[in-house]
Parts: sequence; C-alpha cells; structure tokens
Amino acid sequence: MKILYYKLRAILVTKLLRWIPRNAPLVLKGENSSLQLADQLSLLGYHNVLLVTDTILRELGVLNELLATLQRNGAEVSVYDGVLPDPAFDQVQAGEKIYRENNCDAIFAVGGGSVLDAAKMISMLHTNPGELKSFAGIQPCKYAGAPLFVAPTTAGTGSEITFAAIITDPVSHDKQPIIDSKMIPSYVALDPQLMRGMPPAVTAASGMDALTHAVESYLSKASTAQTELQAIAAVKLVFDNLVRAYRDGDDMEARDAMAMAAFYAGAAFGKTSVGYVHGIAHQLGRVCGTPHGNANAMVLPEVLRAYGSCVDSRLAVLARAVDMQGDSDAELASQFIESIVAMRAQMEMPTQPKGLKTEDIALITRQALAEAGSLYPVPRYMKAAEIREIVGALV
Ligand SMILES: [Fe+2]
Repeated sequence: MKILYYKLRAILVTKLLRWIPRNAPLVLKGENSSLQLADQLSLLGYHNVLLVTDTILRELGVLNELLATLQRNGAEVSVYDGVLPDPAFDQVQAGEKIYRENNCDAIFAVGGGSVLDAAKMISMLHTNPGELKSFAGIQPCKYAGAPLFVAPTTAGTGSEITFAAIITDPVSHDKQPIIDSKMIPSYVALDPQLMRGMPPAVTAASGMDALTHAVESYLSKASTAQTELQAIAAVKLVFDNLVRAYRDGDDMEARDAMAMAAFYAGAAFGKTSVGYVHGIAHQLGRVCGTPHGNANAMVLPEVLRAYGSCVDSRLAVLARAVDMQGDSDAELASQFIESIVAMRAQMEMPTQPKGLKTEDIALITRQALAEAGSLYPVPRYMKAAEIREIVGALV
C-alpha cells in the first residue's frame, strides 16, 4: 500500500518538476570569470551591491580582487559576511536588512552552498517581505527576487543553478526547504580561481556530492534526454578530474572541470530530484552532523549495489561513458560501483559517521524511506530491511 502511495507521489513530483517554469542564468566560466561578472554587473547599471559571503573567505582574502573590481567600476559595496554553515533565518534577515538599509540594487554572493542558499533567500525576502516560516513549500514567492549574481567557491552543491534553498528554523532546528524557480540566480561565474584554496577534504566531499547528484539524476524515473546528457557529462568530468583536484588544488584545469561538473549535475537533478543516497545522507547529517558530501560518499556505492539488477543497464551507460569495458551490463555496472569505492579510498574519505549509534539505525531508516518515498522518483522502492542494512554497516 505504501509503495503505491510512493509511486503516485513520484508521478506528482515528476510532473511538478517538469511543470515549474524556470529561466536559465547567464553563465561565465574560466579563470577570473568572477571578475568579468563584476564588470557585467556595472555594465548592467547596478551601482550599489551587497556582497554576501562568510568570514573565512573574507579573512582568506578570496574576495579582495572582486571587491577592488566592483569599486574600480564605481559601485558602492556593502558586505555581509555572517553566513554560517546550514544558514538559519536570522542570517537571511540580517543580510536583507543591510541590503534594504543601504538601498542596494543587486546581490553578489561568493561562497559555498550555504552562502548561495542564504543569498537566494535574502534576494527573495527583500521583494516578498514576510515571516521566513511562510516560505516553506513550492513556489511560495509572488515576486521575482532582487538581482542575484553568484560565484560558487566549492564544486558540489550546484546551488548556483538549482531553485531550492535550505534554511534552518532556529527554534525547531528543522531544515526548511524552499523551492521556487524565481530563486535561480540570474548570473553565474564558474571561476576556478575562487576554488584554488578549497582544502582537499572539502574538494573530495563536494565533488562526491556532485557525482551523487549526477548518478541519482541519471537513475531517476523523472530523467529526460536533456538531464541524461547533463548527468553523463558531469559523471565524465568527475571521473577525470576529482582526484586530480583533490591531489593538486592549484590544478586549474581540474578545478575548472569540477566547477562544470557541479553545474551540470545541479542542472540535471534540479529537474529530476535525487534518490536514496540523499535520503540517507540527510538523516546522517541531522543525527550525526556528518557533512553532506561525506555522507553521500559513505553510502553511494552501497545504495547502487542494493538497487540490484534494475539499474544495471543505466549504470552500464555511465560506465561506458567513462571508458570502461565489459561483456555485460551487470559487469559494467559492477565496475562502475567499484570505481566509486576506489575513488572514495584514493581521497581517504571517512567511511563512518562520527557518533552514529546502533539505536539511531531505526529512526534513520524510517526517515530515509519516508523522504525518498515521498519526494524522489527512485528507480526501485526499497524495503526497510535494505536501508537498515546499509545504515547498520556504518556503525
Ligand atoms: Fe547533495
């Protein structure tokens, strides 16, 4: 009965994902594209900018050149650097207050997924004033947000192209997803220079997040010809470049490719949603505080194995795309899964969440099943015992 409910939900989610209208952003890419975007901002006639970021990036001096470029072009710049990981309502409100009080006319966000999510919500809150609690759900905003320019400093979340933001309610500590196509930034710079300082562990985690987006999107029942091409491109780019970027953070070619991988994966999963890997990873984040990319990496191969033969032909396509050879789809699928295990090991990624207890397994299993069942058009609905086995192996 529950599986029937999940199947009906999946049809609904698929239709909704396809129905939501969205505009594609203008994208600049390559070294120093964030500075070119700053030039474009002035050309477009914006003169009073709110720069949204976090204190670490500001102190590292990552923004110095960007700030200088904006100011050289005659723009007034206010800086809000108070965004924390998993941003909460108060950070969105604080950023919007600075935007409003300084009569800003555009937002330029530089940072990882948290900064980009906060900036998206600052943009929406400014033109749709109200309680942030009321933004929960799908297409909650009536008006387009403040003009939003973004330059990601990590290559993973795809937040620069997705129409979702996750903001934490400071009272209930619930992570509130807000889904509105008006949140997609209008201008994006994929600048590998901004990613140069990303530590190897963050490079690995964010890259595995991008890979998970691409693989789960490709396996989604909501995939389309377009999302499949985007997902395959992202998988190829990750396989060719993630370990390179992990080993040498100054390898600008690898950084550039990973920025594209995250972008393509984000574009794909924005239309197809994800699957059980994310369903489990979100619970690991909630219960153990496991960083999202690490949590995905801990269970991606295991979930793919658990799907079994129903995903063999799909995984075989991905395997062939990364030049693997085999006599059957099953053999290629197995090679593909094992290569993810190898990649995880090459980057010395953690394989167990800190603090996970045996008594947490039941709750994580229940919530992962509910999340994936009600939100993700997965290739096959799993039984509780299958999820329990995957989560139990992490203790
Ligand atoms: Fe993710």
